[in-house]
Amino acid sequence: MLLDGHGRQATDLRVSLTDRCNLRCSYCMPPEGLDWLPKAEVLTDDEVVRLITIGVERLGITEVRLTGGEPLLRRGIVDIVARAAALTPRPEVSLTTNGIGLAKVAGALREAGLARVNVSLDTLDRDVFRKLAHRDRLSDVLDGMAAAASAGLTPVKVNAVLLRGVNEGDAVPLLRYCLEHEYELRFIEQMPLDAQHGWQRETMVTAEEIHARLETAFTLTPLPSADRGSAPAERFAVEGGGLSGRVGVIASVTRPFCGSCDRVRLTADGQIRNCLFAREESDLRAALRGGASDAEIAERWAAAVRGKKAGHGIDDPSFLQPDRPMSAIGG
Ligand code: GTP
Ligand code: 5AD
Ligand code: SF4
Repeated sequence: MLLDGHGRQATDLRVSLTDRCNLRCSYCMPPEGLDWLPKAEVLTDDEVVRLITIGVERLGITEVRLTGGEPLLRRGIVDIVARAAALTPRPEVSLTTNGIGLAKVAGALREAGLARVNVSLDTLDRDVFRKLAHRDRLSDVLDGMAAAASAGLTPVKVNAVLLRGVNEGDAVPLLRYCLEHEYELRFIEQMPLDAQHGWQRETMVTAEEIHARLETAFTLTPLPSADRGSAPAERFAVEGGGLSGRVGVIASVTRPFCGSCDRVRLTADGQIRNCLFAREESDLRAALRGGASDAEIAERWAAAVRGKKAGHGIDDPSFLQPDRPMSAIGG
């Protein structure tokens, strides 16, 4: 088991398959991109699967989420999904993607055993999309979401980050669109994980503001918090304009959910991070390539989780943003 010193058990393994991305969302990375990891440092498909297997068979991992960068850029993704979904006990395997290229592979991913997808979508306005993501790919994303739903990768969840002065006005149209298509929309408070270190607490669009914006067009009723478990989203039933369904708000900054955190992260270069905001990593790639046994790797991994901090401490005066950005850590 992966127990930390605060009584939490990590059962949700988030695996970053690559630090590369084909978009350049401004809350994540600069338009020119970043210095990507050299190929030799990135785990091979076999290495990724070996670590997932150790997590599932020896350490109590029950959920495996593939993330990036953009995980669909990873050539072996369908094979990785198939091998992860074939493990005993079978973990739930899911994917967080920007949706580009999803239309082409949704069926194959489903057949390989993928349970569901979360897709990032911050606006429905082509010009705003271009401005925010520095690429003209909105229609690819929408096609990807539709293909995922048809392939049965459901519920399709949609992640939206609102940026002040950029896409704040998209809150209501995004919700309308997601309700119409039966996607489950979640708004995420922007976190200090951008490569440019440009995040400012003062300009962040808060969960409270998002709620107020949605209430201009919809009625929101909180769903019982008992159903939430360790999920990051607070969920609401919504109704308005002849539409109804659900919406979530992930208030990572103003209402942190660290107390019930069940996550542990594996970066594309084989480092275990016990928190998005961890200052230290544990090098499983070195152990793996140095000939360590599964039992030795499991012990090193468990030790890394034991040292997990109580929370991210974004509001502490001593808070320091992690050296690696979200794209290299995994979303
Ligand atoms: P499901 O609810 O199971 O679908 O997964 P999820 O919401 O954890 O997955 P997703 O990858 O879509 O994450 C959504 C967003 O929640 C991420 O982009 C983060 O912004 C936020 N998030 C996910 N995990 C963590 C975490 O461990 N800590 C914090 N602070 N935020 C997180
Ligand atoms: N703050 C909050 N969410 C972020 N994401 C990426 N960077 C940030 C950030 N700085 C979201 C993306 C995607 C998920 C993996 O993380 O929108 O949905
Ligand atoms: Fe877990 Fe760290 Fe995220 Fe808090 S910030 S929920 S402890 S990963």
